[in-house]
Amino acid sequence: MSAIRILRGEYRGKTVKNQSFALVSGFQTGAKGGYVTVQNNGTFPNCPATIRIRVDAISDYEMVNGDTVEMNTPAVKASAFTVETEEQAMTRIRERFEILTEMSKACIGGDIRAMIVSGPPGVGKSFGVEQEIEKATLFDKIAGKRLRAEVVKGSATPIGLYQTLYKYSDPNCVLVFDDCDSILLDDVALNLLKGALDSGKKRKISWLSESSTLRREGIPDSFDFKGSVIFITNMKFDKMKSQKLRDHLDALQSRCHYLDLTLDTMRDKILRIKQIAKDGVLFADYDFEPETQDSIFEFMETNQARLREMSLRMALKIADLRKLSPDNWRRLAETTCMKAAD
Ligand SMILES: Nc1ncnc2c1ncn2[C@@H]1O[C@H](COP(=O)(O)OP(=O)(O)OP(=O)(O)O)[C@@H](O)[C@H]1O
Ligand SMILES: [Mg+2]
Repeated sequence: MSAIRILRGEYRGKTVKNQSFALVSGFQTGAKGGYVTVQNNGTFPNCPATIRIRVDAISDYEMVNGDTVEMNTPAVKASAFTVETEEQAMTRIRERFEILTEMSKACIGGDIRAMIVSGPPGVGKSFGVEQEIEKATLFDKIAGKRLRAEVVKGSATPIGLYQTLYKYSDPNCVLVFDDCDSILLDDVALNLLKGALDSGKKRKISWLSESSTLRREGIPDSFDFKGSVIFITNMKFDKMKSQKLRDHLDALQSRCHYLDLTLDTMRDKILRIKQIAKDGVLFADYDFEPETQDSIFEFMETNQARLREMSLRMALKIADLRKLSPDNWRRLAETTCMKAAD
């Protein structure tokens, strides 16, 4: 059974902070907000064996490694100070991506109205979300229902955003803003999003100035938004330096579930690449022998400090070069994938 540590939460009016529990089922939202279901294990005397701890977002708890069921024991507390093994790190990373899948599903299904996914470039954020959308679309096709999804990439003007929100305002719609940081940094656009994602029952958005574009397209100057939204970004909302920007983004973050994939160290990124390759999917199109695959990892690990980026995307670039030139790929990679030596 997996275990979680609640960083900030509440149970029957009592604060739950940095306490570990055996997980029964992951983050869900109910009438009173978000919660996770865990085993009580005697932490709260005279309470049921299975309890729901209220948390605001999935960032309020984290997975704990190991198969420990008896939580809150001195042994578990001590384990917080031990060094994470490679296998444990792999499990942690895999779990983060499982949460990405779980949350994407919830957004697509309309159980969650918005989420923000944050993480470094090229680790599989877009891939994870798009895969779930594809699955849901396929399933809907079979079931004869209709999911309407749109992935918006790059920049959009505020009026363009207003039009897109209108087009996908029905409850069966999901909008993905992938690397659209300009929207998040624009006052007008952000205010539209705040309206679209407000936690009230009605989420009314208005376009306040006269617009011939909207008139021509038959778009009203206000409407209710009932769809779901997923933001994918490299920005770390809570680490933004500018206070003004942080206040701005806080307003959005408070309306969304926030998932930081936390692949911040070089080791985590390398492990993620190995993990996807081990699953047999990363290099599936290349027909590499296991030794060839290993030689790519070895090259990446040896040159980690000089590679322009440590990511799945970089692994695929190097795989391309290996395929192109089995004898000279290292030289090609040095020239095209690495920063110049000082
Ligand atoms: N689980 C996976 N299995 C196979 N390939 C994957 C997987 N996840 C990601 N990839 C591949 O890795 C590459 C990078 O993934 P993706 O584009 O999702 O990264 P990203 O985190 O969205 O990066 P960015 O922030 O730069 O947009 C893509 O070519 C993608 O196909
Ligand atoms: Mg992406």
